[in-house]
Amino acid sequence: MSDERPVGVFDSGLGGLTVARAIRAVLPAERLLYLGDTARVPYGTRSERTVMRYARICARHLASEGIKVLVVACNTVSAVALDMLRVELDVPVIGVIGPGAQAGVAASRRGRLGVIATRGTIASGAYVRAVAALDPRVEVVPQAAPLFVPLAEEGWVRGEVAERVAEAYLAPLADAGVDALVLGCTHYPLLREVIETTGRRLCGELTVADSAEAAATELATLLRERGLTHDGPGELRLRVTDQPARFGEVASRFLGADLESFEVRQVDL
Ligand code: DGL
Repeated sequence: MSDERPVGVFDSGLGGLTVARAIRAVLPAERLLYLGDTARVPYGTRSERTVMRYARICARHLASEGIKVLVVACNTVSAVALDMLRVELDVPVIGVIGPGAQAGVAASRRGRLGVIATRGTIASGAYVRAVAALDPRVEVVPQAAPLFVPLAEEGWVRGEVAERVAEAYLAPLADAGVDALVLGCTHYPLLREVIETTGRRLCGELTVADSAEAAATELATLLRERGLTHDGPGELRLRVTDQPARFGEVASRFLGADLESFEVRQVDL
């Protein structure tokens, strides 16, 4: 039996479209309903209490649309509000921290794992806890990398500025001897090339793990195991709480596809 209900994907803004992109690559037959809280972005600089409040409002909206599972694409929300959402919602909830930690642990051979993320995600300690639960021998070296967020949004993903910023964030990780790195933020996959090149120059060997790809794989397993898959055709509908300037351009960059073929609507939450 094909399950027609959409998969809800929630993010603080448009960055979570990197997760929608990864899901579309793995599960092209699924119907995705994406909600980006573009009126309140960024979440990564806010207190846990505020992020939890925003997350509750957005998750309830998606639940009222009849989703079959919620994917929390935002690392910051996954870091501080996942337990609350799992208790409050009637559908399964997947975050990006668990899958990202798993991919990172698998990637690290020497057991020294760098994690870059927003200040909120790093301050929560969520990656440290997730990795310790998987393999206590792996040491996490956390590094907040807030400037990568505006760089990705502006499309400054290569060149001197991006390289300098990458150097500043990755040098302490190189000093700590990391051999693998988790991209713990929706925006960072856009900077993967400069992060990989700079990281390998500074660290020698460095394997980069992406929490978006890892979450998409976990979603595929969950849908299959619980008999929730859709037979197609797939679709993507976008809901945003504000349509900021350059919306289409920025969204297309994160999604890796032209926005024209997708329904975009604004909701007041
Ligand atoms: N989506 C956020 C994250 O993955 C980054 C942008 C923000 O700070 O809201 O942590």
